[in-house]
Amino acid sequence: MWTSTLLALTCLLVLRCAEGANPSNIVFILTDDQDVELGGMTPMKKARALIGDAGAFFSNAFTVTPLCCPSRSSILTGRYPHNHQVHNNSLTGNCSSPAWQKGPETLAFPVYLNKQFYQTFYGGKYLNQYGQKEAGEVSYVPPGWDQWHALVGNSQYYNYSLSVNGKEEKHGDSYEKDYLTDLITNRSLEFLDKRSPQHPFFMMLAPPAPHSPWAAAPQYQGAFNGTKAPRDGSFNKPGKDKHWLLRQAVSPMSDTSIAFLDNAFRKRWQTLLSVDDMVEKVVKKLEDLQLLNSTYIFYTSDHGYHSGQFSLPIDKRQLYEFDIRVPLMVRGPGIKPKQTLKAPVLNIDLAPTFLDIAGVNLSLVNVDGESFLPHMTLGNGTARPYFLVAHTGEGHAEADPACPKLGPGLAHCFPDCVCEDACNNTYACVRTLTENNLQYCEFADSESFVELYNLTSDPHQLENIVKKVDPALLQAMNLKLIKLQSCAGITCRDTK
Ligand SMILES: *[C@@H]1O[C@H](CO)[C@@H](O)[C@H](O)[C@H]1NC(C)=O
Ligand SMILES: *[C@@H]1O[C@H](CO)[C@@H](O)[C@H](O)[C@H]1NC(C)=O
Ligand SMILES: *[C@@H]1O[C@H](CO)[C@@H](O)[C@H](O)[C@H]1NC(C)=O
Ligand SMILES: *[C@@H]1O[C@H](CO)[C@@H](O)[C@H](O)[C@H]1NC(C)=O
Ligand SMILES: *[C@@H]1O[C@H](CO)[C@@H](O)[C@H](O)[C@H]1NC(C)=O
Ligand SMILES: *[C@@H]1O[C@H](CO)[C@@H](O)[C@H](O)[C@H]1NC(C)=O
Ligand SMILES: *[C@@H]1O[C@H](CO)[C@@H](O)[C@H](O)[C@H]1NC(C)=O
Ligand SMILES: *[C@@H]1O[C@H](CO)[C@@H](O)[C@H](O)[C@H]1NC(C)=O
Ligand SMILES: *[C@@H]1O[C@H](CO)[C@@H](O)[C@H](O)[C@H]1NC(C)=O
Ligand SMILES: *[C@@H]1O[C@H](CO)[C@@H](O)[C@H](O)[C@H]1NC(C)=O
Repeated sequence: MWTSTLLALTCLLVLRCAEGANPSNIVFILTDDQDVELGGMTPMKKARALIGDAGAFFSNAFTVTPLCCPSRSSILTGRYPHNHQVHNNSLTGNCSSPAWQKGPETLAFPVYLNKQFYQTFYGGKYLNQYGQKEAGEVSYVPPGWDQWHALVGNSQYYNYSLSVNGKEEKHGDSYEKDYLTDLITNRSLEFLDKRSPQHPFFMMLAPPAPHSPWAAAPQYQGAFNGTKAPRDGSFNKPGKDKHWLLRQAVSPMSDTSIAFLDNAFRKRWQTLLSVDDMVEKVVKKLEDLQLLNSTYIFYTSDHGYHSGQFSLPIDKRQLYEFDIRVPLMVRGPGIKPKQTLKAPVLNIDLAPTFLDIAGVNLSLVNVDGESFLPHMTLGNGTARPYFLVAHTGEGHAEADPACPKLGPGLAHCFPDCVCEDACNNTYACVRTLTENNLQYCEFADSESFVELYNLTSDPHQLENIVKKVDPALLQAMNLKLIKLQSCAGITCRDTK
């Protein structure tokens, strides 16, 4: 009697108790390379109905860095890249490196969830170098995960290896046995059936879609056959007043480049249809097990993508909206259906949000982001006025044999020897959103290039206005940038 009164009293103070004494379950679906700006959510009819319409869509969700391994490391740790120190997709850039494993990964969110007695499941792509020899091979299972079904290396649909709780499992190319998106779905359903009802669970599902090599399930290979990449405001435009990498693109693009990117665009959408099935099956299973009303479901992507914007055929890694904005939708206990939330939310906010749901005291956790649970359940969280977006450009030490005359320092030069990255595509930007709608970026290149966009008057970022504005504005933006580039924990959040 006394304890239940105490529990009820505590519950008045702590929102999640409204759902009962047990913390809620969490399902987290993370796609690979799915944009939101170019219609990347269009194929996701079931997912939008079952998650977004049943909860909240975030119209201003961003990654703090538009490349897989650094972004995923930010998601796992809740930290900016300058604090987790994963800077590119290579081991030497700390992607799944021994230093990462000994340091930041020991403080990633699954470790805290496990301490809260969550049963944790991982299925799919982890970090690009996971499972490689220098990263501890498949026997290495990161801390905090009870059930581990992780892909070795970068996204594949067939002919891959998994680490299944530290043992290698090889897969071939039979659709029925090996198709990775479906396999992750099937394993997640098994986990839900076998879990112990005593404790809450956390399930992270990371399908390869819509990353290359774009192998759609056989039944979806004819889908969207008339679809082309959208000819939006910056499609096939020259990046004339932009930094060096944008100026090297061939503009207008050749017909073969356009045909190549349209084909990739269509195939990306086809691969997403299997993720849409994943969402449907997981929701149906939760319903059957009577768990849907006590489970949060998060859906997002590691970063955006472009298809012909500023005449760059296909990739990510750029500072523009198409690469840094991501889809984000969440349903769950206490989240009213059909909400569109405008507060800027970052991928570094996911970890603190999960831990908030799990009842972890966030002042004891070392994260740069903050929980967005109050935005969803109370509708009143505080909106950050500005944030940091940064990227460390990748480049090969030698010239690409396909484009020898371009020389070293460049990467991903295809098609037509147009490069999507370079060592000097290294930048840091401040994005403001609530007071004004600006983006200010500084490059570490031989020109110390600066770009400034007014997203209110120029949503497609066609005009770099750095030479037109009052220098006092540039100075103010530069000060914000300097502050964020060395922020840690609370100082990343204290941006009033
Ligand atoms: C969820 O629904 C089930 C039955 O459908 C019910 O027994 C349970 O109390 C509900 N839980 C919550 C947290 O509302
Ligand atoms: C890799 O991370 C460690 C700390 O975890 C850091 O000391 C080192 O400088 C990082 N390496 C690079 C190339 O950033
Ligand atoms: C998988 O590997 C086999 C054997 O190397 C090869 O014949 C097949 O074409 C590959 N399948 C796919 C989808 O890459
Ligand atoms: C997933 O499960 C379905 C239904 O049991 C089955 O038809 C399909 O072949 C399975 N796919 C994989 C890749 O395991
Ligand atoms: C493309 O769509 C049209 C019209 O829906 C259909 O007739 C045609 O068979 C489709 N082609 C392929 C390759 O699926
Ligand atoms: C969380 O931890 C901080 C720092 O130790 C402490 O001051 C605070 O009271 C704790 N909050 C709760 C709700 O336990
Ligand atoms: C949000 O609303 C809750 C409950 O009405 C209140 O306790 C809390 O202080 C509010 N937070 C902010 C930031 O306004
Ligand atoms: C990744 O970062 C490391 C450390 O800065 C660097 O040595 C390496 O060349 C980078 N990899 C690529 C492909 O740029
Ligand atoms: C960027 O790097 C490329 C390749 O090394 C070089 O050709 C170009 O001059 C550099 N541009 C700037 C502005 O640093
Ligand atoms: C951005 O554009 C809006 C709309 O045209 C304008 O009101 C605002 O003053 C501009 N901001 C800057 C810094 O130029």
